[in-house]
Amino acid sequence: MGDRNDPNNTVLVTGATGTVGTTLTELLAEYGRSVRIATRTPASAAADEPESVRFDFEKPETWGRAFEGVDRLFLLLPPGGDVARARDAVDAAIRVGVDHVVFLSVLGANRNPLLPHRRIERHLEQSDASYTFLRASFFMQNLAEVHAVDVREHDELFVPAGEGRTSFVDARDVAAVAAAALTEPGHENQRYDLTGREALTYDEAAQVFSETLGRRITYPNPSPFRFARRTYGRDEPLGFVVVMLGIYTVARLGFSGRVTDDVERVLGRSPTSLAEFVDDYREVWDSSVSSASSPESAPGTGLGAETDVGANTDSDSDSDTDTNTR
Ligand SMILES: NC(=O)c1ccc[n+]([C@@H]2O[C@H](COP(=O)([O-])OP(=O)(O)OC[C@H]3O[C@@H](n4cnc5c(N)ncnc54)[C@H](OP(=O)(O)O)[C@@H]3O)[C@@H](O)[C@H]2O)c1
Repeated sequence: MGDRNDPNNTVLVTGATGTVGTTLTELLAEYGRSVRIATRTPASAAADEPESVRFDFEKPETWGRAFEGVDRLFLLLPPGGDVARARDAVDAAIRVGVDHVVFLSVLGANRNPLLPHRRIERHLEQSDASYTFLRASFFMQNLAEVHAVDVREHDELFVPAGEGRTSFVDARDVAAVAAAALTEPGHENQRYDLTGREALTYDEAAQVFSETLGRRITYPNPSPFRFARRTYGRDEPLGFVVVMLGIYTVARLGFSGRVTDDVERVLGRSPTSLAEFVDDYREVWDSSVSSASSPESAPGTGLGAETDVGANTDSDSDSDTDTNTR
């Protein structure tokens, strides 16, 4: 295995333009590491910026150039991505010299053998490279992107999570752990369960928002039906709504609340709290900003539930007469 501490070793970051990858790329560049951005739409980079290379999991012809001279890989499964394609890409990367793969997985992947992320983990476990699995809990960034509109327009956290607890983690902490796993020794064949420091109900999360933003944010505890109606009525694709219902059913059933100290063990500091996160991005939820011109500082693309299932064009039909399960 190559010397992990050699700054000349090149790290390829897939999903480098996404929620975790953006921060990860910045951190690696700050550490003086040779880093290459993998994206479907590369831009020409200034001399002091990381190199950007065309890479598409769906287009194997883009892999060769992207993997050239790379010995460490940050891997994610893009939203809606094909597991077989991702496994083929991993194999190609290992064939040409990648000896360590840091994979962004999901909390609880080990309990669900059919989950796409777990199928990629299993493939990595059987490969010739070492690996680090980052099994991340629900990103706080989701509240700043896909759900920010409800806070801005209705002063509400509007998700169908019932009374379930969620151990929200800041994706910046996930990126920091990824940077450590890519640049320090000792993370080979480790599986980290990355969570925030506590598990909150959405009612408690709304209280954190209220205290931090200085205005009352509520959690109306919408039923899955009411949530689907408002979200679909907002021109979100049906597939997106379905993915969200799945994610929040898991939370509703109480499976998203496990808290671990893995972030602290790796980083030597506490994970970012939800209050700190809300304070850092407070302008995202500013109710004086319209949704059409939401602040550019909004982090990432949220749940990443990208889908090509047909978009709805119905007008907003959410109303106060909806059934509320609370
Ligand atoms: N959101 C959560 O709460 C959460 C929690 C735990 C785990 N996760 C997992 O995290 C992963 C998403 O990470 P993220 O949120 O950091 O990303 P993201 O913000 O959803 O962005 C998606 C990234 O994937 C890239 N991408 C999309 N299609 C691609 C393709 N065909 N080939 C190559 N790259 C492609 C995009 O790059 P370009 O557009 O530049 O090509 C973009 O950088 C998913 O596997 C998700 O399950 C999410």
